[in-house]
Amino acid sequence: MNQAIDTDVLIIGSGAAGLSLALELADHAKITVLSKASIESGCTQYAQGGISAVLGEDDSLVSHVEDTLNAGAGLCDPEIVKFVISEGPKRVAWLIEQGMPFTQMANKKGQAKYHLTREGGHSHRRVIHAKDKTGQAVVTTLLNRVKNHSNIQLIEHHIVVDLITGTKLGLSTSRCLGAYVLQIATGKVIVIRSRFVVLASGGAGKVYLYTSNPDVATGDGIAMAWRAGCRVANMEFIQFHPTCLYHPEAKTFLISEAVRGEGGKLRLPDNSQFMQQFDSRAELAPRDIVARAIDHEMKRLGCDSVFLDISHQSKQFIIEHFPNIYAHCLELGYDLATQAIPVVPAAHYTCGGVMTDRDGRTDVECLYAIGEVAFTGLHGANRMASNSLLECLVFSHAASKHILSQLKQVVLPPSLPNWDESRVTDSDEEIVVAHNWDELRRFMWDYVGIVRTTKRLQRAKRRVDLLYSEIHEYYSNFRVTNDLIELRNLTLVADLIIRSAQLRHESRGLHYTLDYLDKNPIAQNTVLIP
Ligand code: FAD
Ligand code: SIN
Repeated sequence: MNQAIDTDVLIIGSGAAGLSLALELADHAKITVLSKASIESGCTQYAQGGISAVLGEDDSLVSHVEDTLNAGAGLCDPEIVKFVISEGPKRVAWLIEQGMPFTQMANKKGQAKYHLTREGGHSHRRVIHAKDKTGQAVVTTLLNRVKNHSNIQLIEHHIVVDLITGTKLGLSTSRCLGAYVLQIATGKVIVIRSRFVVLASGGAGKVYLYTSNPDVATGDGIAMAWRAGCRVANMEFIQFHPTCLYHPEAKTFLISEAVRGEGGKLRLPDNSQFMQQFDSRAELAPRDIVARAIDHEMKRLGCDSVFLDISHQSKQFIIEHFPNIYAHCLELGYDLATQAIPVVPAAHYTCGGVMTDRDGRTDVECLYAIGEVAFTGLHGANRMASNSLLECLVFSHAASKHILSQLKQVVLPPSLPNWDESRVTDSDEEIVVAHNWDELRRFMWDYVGIVRTTKRLQRAKRRVDLLYSEIHEYYSNFRVTNDLIELRNLTLVADLIIRSAQLRHESRGLHYTLDYLDKNPIAQNTVLIP
């Protein structure tokens, strides 16, 4: 008999979305939070720039809404945008109540005020931050509270293999009932029964060879929701962050857009500036435009990177605003205060995801999705900088309210079948997994990247189909491992991205194809139905 856990709410993911939801619910229910690696392994930990919200005296909700709609290139849901942005200041206040140490600076009158920085697409300073380590401060703050709450159980190094639904078990109910979870240390798969299950499992940046995302970002939640019968939308809109440090031997490291917000300029190898030729907002144009401009110039000149230069600011200013970035670059031999640093675009954010409503509910009863895993309608064809942590906070709050309203009606499911390992053996060829993993990420980068064509997408589709059938066979015959679970999910997500990209016969926001350069007159979401 495999060890079983019973809980009221199973939250899959310990980033901003999962931890804030746990805190919002914990006074009323028993919560289990899972992370497949350490608690601090998600994208949240790495967030630099900050959280956007209307907090400045010269700013307005209307302006934040307008900027978000502009960046989203006609595909944002205006009602959702208004909802999220009007909730922004309240959610930031909630985070401050939890102890969040946002950066304060003295104003002209000598009073300490929260410092607001600026990022691409924003027409005002509205990004509140904790120096250049906002995400780490968010996780530390929430974790301090979570660890002290007796109703919350945090379980690390446990990866969900799949969701259990009534439909999969052939029951009369279709609802989500829990999950099969691999204990990575023992190789055992346990059953978790739960009244509600929430996917807070983040995005899928690892589907690409070069990414700002940490290793856990393998799109597990999107793949699991799809297999459980949920619709996914707008998977073709993968955001490439324009400025990741280029260093042949170091892991990809983000250089926050706030560096450009504080005056950083992009330069070509001959030191000339080029962004003005692509957009009148230059370095502060939305990310899709800046990333494409860099890609264009790199291809035109055949160079390995372009350069980001903030050396016009004093060393003191740079260290005060960007201590983490400054120190990391210095370790690799680049001094931001005296030289321009080499930068390249890399996959950064999954704008599409599991379709949810305003309460974070998916198509499957008792299954919610919040944070980067979800498609809420906020980001449209291109997410505006720092709107993502905001979305995590707003939808964890909304989902908590909905779950609390349902708590009395929804009971714990009956006992669930154990994971069946009777027909599988230990893998004899682990190398297949590693090889397929590399192959997938490389062809996604080459064929489904910043600039696409119909032919490249067809090539990618043929390859993903082959990989998918190989992995399916492997999964059916061998015991599951962490790498196999992730590869299976990554391949499915890659397929969803390619299929969505093939369906979009236009260039809009982050989806840019040389075969359809114009925008269609009517903007439509790409919705895939399992
Ligand atoms: P994550 O924080 O990614 O957490 C996902 C969690 O799910 C992890 O705990 C992981 O272990 C767990 N998990 C996943 N799959 C499974 C599974 N199968 N079983 C068990 N657990 C699982 N956004 C902003 O708004 N402002 C910024 O300044 C900003 N900067 C960024 C900088 C970087 C370098 C990156 C990569 C992203 C940045 N973003 C920023 C985006 C933002 O950080 C993310 O969108 C956001 O943190 C996502 O939070 P989340 O809670 O949805 O998921
Ligand atoms: C950054 O600091 O540039 C990242 C901000 C974001 O992705 O929202």
